[in-house]
Amino acid sequence: MNLVVVSNRVARGKANEPMTGGLAAALLPVVEHSGAIWVGSSGRVRDGFQKEPFAEIEALGAGALAMLDLPAAHYGGYYEGFANSALWPALHSRSDLIRVSQGDYLSYREVNAFMARALLRFKKPDTAFWVQDYHFLALGAELRDLGVSEPIGFFLHTPWPALATIEGVPHHRELIEAMLAYDLIGFQTEEDCENFRSYVKSELHLPVHDGVALSRYGRTRLAVFPIGIDADKFAQAAAKAISHPDVSRLRRSLHGERLAIGVDRLDYSKGLVNRITAFDRMWTNQPGLTRTVSLLQIATPSRGAIEAYGNLQNDVAKLVSDVNGRHGEVDWTPIRYLNKGYSQAVLAGLYRTAQVGVVTPLHDGMNLVAKEYVAAQNPEDPGVLVLSKFAGAANELDTALLVNPHDIDGMARTIATALTMPLTERRLRYEAMMEKLRNRTIQQWFADFVATLRDSGTEKVSSDTLMAEPEEASPWPLRAAQSAARVH
Ligand code: F6P
Repeated sequence: MNLVVVSNRVARGKANEPMTGGLAAALLPVVEHSGAIWVGSSGRVRDGFQKEPFAEIEALGAGALAMLDLPAAHYGGYYEGFANSALWPALHSRSDLIRVSQGDYLSYREVNAFMARALLRFKKPDTAFWVQDYHFLALGAELRDLGVSEPIGFFLHTPWPALATIEGVPHHRELIEAMLAYDLIGFQTEEDCENFRSYVKSELHLPVHDGVALSRYGRTRLAVFPIGIDADKFAQAAAKAISHPDVSRLRRSLHGERLAIGVDRLDYSKGLVNRITAFDRMWTNQPGLTRTVSLLQIATPSRGAIEAYGNLQNDVAKLVSDVNGRHGEVDWTPIRYLNKGYSQAVLAGLYRTAQVGVVTPLHDGMNLVAKEYVAAQNPEDPGVLVLSKFAGAANELDTALLVNPHDIDGMARTIATALTMPLTERRLRYEAMMEKLRNRTIQQWFADFVATLRDSGTEKVSSDTLMAEPEEASPWPLRAAQSAARVH
């Protein structure tokens, strides 16, 4: 099977380049290995009619990386507009931050249609398409409109929220109906999958039986594939990175002081204000911890043209400055705050240097930083992960110290507990988490999804059984299910 992977952001195969965000960094090693073609945005735009939309196509491991210049007239409405000012806030249960126009929606659909046309270049009889993330909810439907009958899968890297929240997105119904053009939709957690399933049943009044939704497009399997990392490889990289100049400089600068680390995109879903407030509270309530522990917070700017992100950047910078002003000394800075990205290789070494990893999003699909922090630890003397119970990773990493990121006092107490945890307990918790990470690697995630996509394209679910669901009559003619015209 020829696999074509599609995502908005892609990554080049250079381990030393900084990477913003989990998706591209996570996919790079597996896509490289699989021989797939990875298609995404070049990060640039182009005006007018383009005969050849691909700006660059280059080798990527056994496959290729193909980057498109997206249409200039629609890029802003698509990326800053509908994707990141309507879908992103809603998917992270912040419908109060939705700011969107009809034009943004039209641009989003235009870019989805543009990508579908560009993908035809890679279509062969045995091709399967695997679309990543919320930028391309309607891409499957656009491909179907162009006559593509090959398997098309979709994986959502973010959470899927409750019904009332997703209903805050204009055109939600049209979009979610379009999503049912996919043969397989994958989610990070059971809760996300269940929320989507409830929407399909109660909003679209479509039958869902044994994890398969039936629509005018045919069958769509809904399933859970929690994304993982290559824990052993990351552990090796962390051990090696300890001699990297940036990591060595950090160690030397600590003078025996302990370190907590947070690494996030500068995004309101990451709970940065709450986290920094918790450190402030900890140093206020336990003055003995001043000078003995500091926080290294890396907050990589992203989506800076969106007002909510600009506001957050100002708020976090001001808060860090207040906290440093309140607790700092002439020779001690409580929070080292950096607005830039680091390569995976350097991050691995920074994680290993820190005795506490703080991953406290208000809501997060998975959060691979949590997994990477654990994998980077020295097995003989591991650090402690303080993890939000609202990160998808909390389902697996349940021996981390789980916190409610809205409970500032609770977080402050838990960070202090992490700092004084005895070695035996740290090792027990670390070993339990490593076992989980080794049991669910990124390679398995990739292979499971692709195998299920292949099966979803061919499986035979009795449409009679589906139709027999009494309470859920479909408003659509079940053309595909009845005629098998689109059944793979
Ligand atoms: O969480 C969803 C996601 O696609 C991540 O996988 C990725 O880290 C992030 O968003 C990238 O955001 P952007 O490309 O807008 O910086």
